[in-house]
Amino acid sequence: MSNDDPIGLFDSGIGGLSVLQRIREVLPHENVIYVSDAGHLPYGDKPRAYIEKRCFSLTDFLIQNKAKAIVVACNTATAAAIETLRGVYTLPVIGVEPGVKPGLAVTQTGVVGILATTETLKSRKFENLVSRFCNDCKVVVQECPGLVEQIEHMDLSGEKTVSLVKRYVASLLDQGADTLVLGCTHYPLISDLIESVAGNRVRVIDTGFAVAREVVRRLTEAELLSTAEKPGTEIFWTTGNLDKMEKLVNYFWNKPSEVKALCQAGETGNPKR
Ligand code: DGL
Repeated sequence: MSNDDPIGLFDSGIGGLSVLQRIREVLPHENVIYVSDAGHLPYGDKPRAYIEKRCFSLTDFLIQNKAKAIVVACNTATAAAIETLRGVYTLPVIGVEPGVKPGLAVTQTGVVGILATTETLKSRKFENLVSRFCNDCKVVVQECPGLVEQIEHMDLSGEKTVSLVKRYVASLLDQGADTLVLGCTHYPLISDLIESVAGNRVRVIDTGFAVAREVVRRLTEAELLSTAEKPGTEIFWTTGNLDKMEKLVNYFWNKPSEVKALCQAGETGNPKR
């Protein structure tokens, strides 16, 4: 393994780009391979065992492509599989989790609202996270079916997206939340909409920076930080539709990048054009 090998990231779709954006800000020289598992999206309503299997398959792919560290840029996948992944692989495996602690640190009403997928909210990992940090405060939760799909369809401000966001945000505000935690990596991609629906008295928490800092810490500890002086590159892979991925990358990444189809053995999907 060498310092100039890439960092591997994966998500069920394009959501992990909200994490990659933050990583890029602190690590401009790292090469990156990103996999969108859009052929299997959404993870949020799938059984844990299914998500775990996907995580192993994508991690193996990233390691075959020389990843020196893995960022599980998905709350749902982290909740389902991070411990098992860490038990199997020896390279640094970094996950993401809803920012319960930062939310509790800033709430004035003592009520923090979490927006996340069904699978994240029902996970043991999330239950432990809340019980670890929440003593005299209250954490209220809202699952958000349909929202990830709207973002993947690049419908960021259409009628259906706005109405889903209004419904999910209102349910948390009605329970007294003054702080909203974005517990799914897709949601920061529509943080403007979420903030405008919630109003300017509500704090919206995203953990992308915290994850980026953790990536720096783990690479430093493993002596694996890139020594390159030129800007790092990104290669994007998708298990879903290649044209769609190209459009999403153009829109959200906004920088000429290589986008490739990932066909895995035993898969029946047709990610080709
Ligand atoms: N970005 C994923 C997360 O952070 C979305 C999960 C899904 O595909 O439902 O949870």
